[in-house]
Amino acid sequence: MTNEIIKDVFYVGVNDRTSELFERLWPLPLGISYNSYLIKDKFNVLIDTVEHTHNELFFKSIKDAIGDEPIDYLVINHMEPDHSSSIEELIFHYPEIKIIGNCKTLSMLDGFYSVTDNTVEVKDGDTLCIGENTLSFHITPMVHWPETMMTYILNKRVLFSGDAFGSFGALEGAVVDEDMDIAYFWDEMYRYYSNIVGKYGAPVAKAMAKIAPLSIDMVCSTHGPVWKKYLPEVMDIYTRMSRYQAEDGVVIAYGSMYGHTAAMAGYIAEALSANGVENIVVHDVSKSDISYVLRDIFKYKCLIIGSPTYSGALFPKIDALVTQIALRGITNRVFGCFGSYSWAGVAVKKLSAFAGSMNWCVTGIPVEMKQGGNDADIPFACKELAVAIANELKKQS
Ligand code: FEO
Repeated sequence: MTNEIIKDVFYVGVNDRTSELFERLWPLPLGISYNSYLIKDKFNVLIDTVEHTHNELFFKSIKDAIGDEPIDYLVINHMEPDHSSSIEELIFHYPEIKIIGNCKTLSMLDGFYSVTDNTVEVKDGDTLCIGENTLSFHITPMVHWPETMMTYILNKRVLFSGDAFGSFGALEGAVVDEDMDIAYFWDEMYRYYSNIVGKYGAPVAKAMAKIAPLSIDMVCSTHGPVWKKYLPEVMDIYTRMSRYQAEDGVVIAYGSMYGHTAAMAGYIAEALSANGVENIVVHDVSKSDISYVLRDIFKYKCLIIGSPTYSGALFPKIDALVTQIALRGITNRVFGCFGSYSWAGVAVKKLSAFAGSMNWCVTGIPVEMKQGGNDADIPFACKELAVAIANELKKQS
């Protein structure tokens, strides 16, 4: 069965509903797709491949689309093995295939698979006529690896974007957004961006500027839906995320061993709500996978972190969270913090120093509880912190 997404362009990707974790790190509750596309023309062109464990279905889809015709070119937009690990078997089936990539791609092709023959190096802006269609190549480094590029069909106004605009979540039959219920994919696109690509905001912003002059009707990413109907919304989300611009809302992320810091998170959330703040998300970092916490930190303008002092340092899962936030260079957040300790308070000092190092707008007086919940001032202090943050958010909106 063929899946022609636009005349002579076939979806030949696969769905992975088996893997629990992407990159052995990020949960896949509803799987993931590895998208590959085949352009049928005088010269048939394959855009990227798939994760090699799904080769059987991949090669069947190619056969369904072009029968026994050759594949003349493989364009590699991205060399990460979830898209390139089928290349050796592809060459086995199609030994005459020419492989198109930029100089960094071809170096990685040698490094990963010892493939050096039948390669064609392209530079930024180069074009290739394949019959009725002409392709152009646009190098977009660090979206998500240094070699990443995008390929555009000029006459069809279709952009093959690599990981950009990708999403977690397997495809449930339909491939193009207008043919499916898209609701699930919005948050998964945020989670994909914030965890996989989010460190590279500046390169993503440069890539967005580079593709801005192109007239684009359809974006074909390496993961998730093909964007057509919702393309303006997707472009807008990517533009904002690449600049670390966030929506109104607050993330409270806390660690808690015995419930004291958790109780403080509850006081703060209630007071925020009572003071008119909407979109409040509370994460216990021992329960919420970090990928969801990072997603929401990318999404919302304010972050409040709570941590017990643990072995004279931050609670380990909070420590891991702030490390990942710093790695991604998230800018321009309103910040508050709270914590607890048994004999020597360290966590709140460390959280305040962290926010200072990020140049965030540190707001309110941090609240730190000693030895459990007997201090009657703690709920009041948490409320005061929440009121200060609610006022700052009102000022900024
Ligand atoms: Fe889907 Fe960066 O690979």
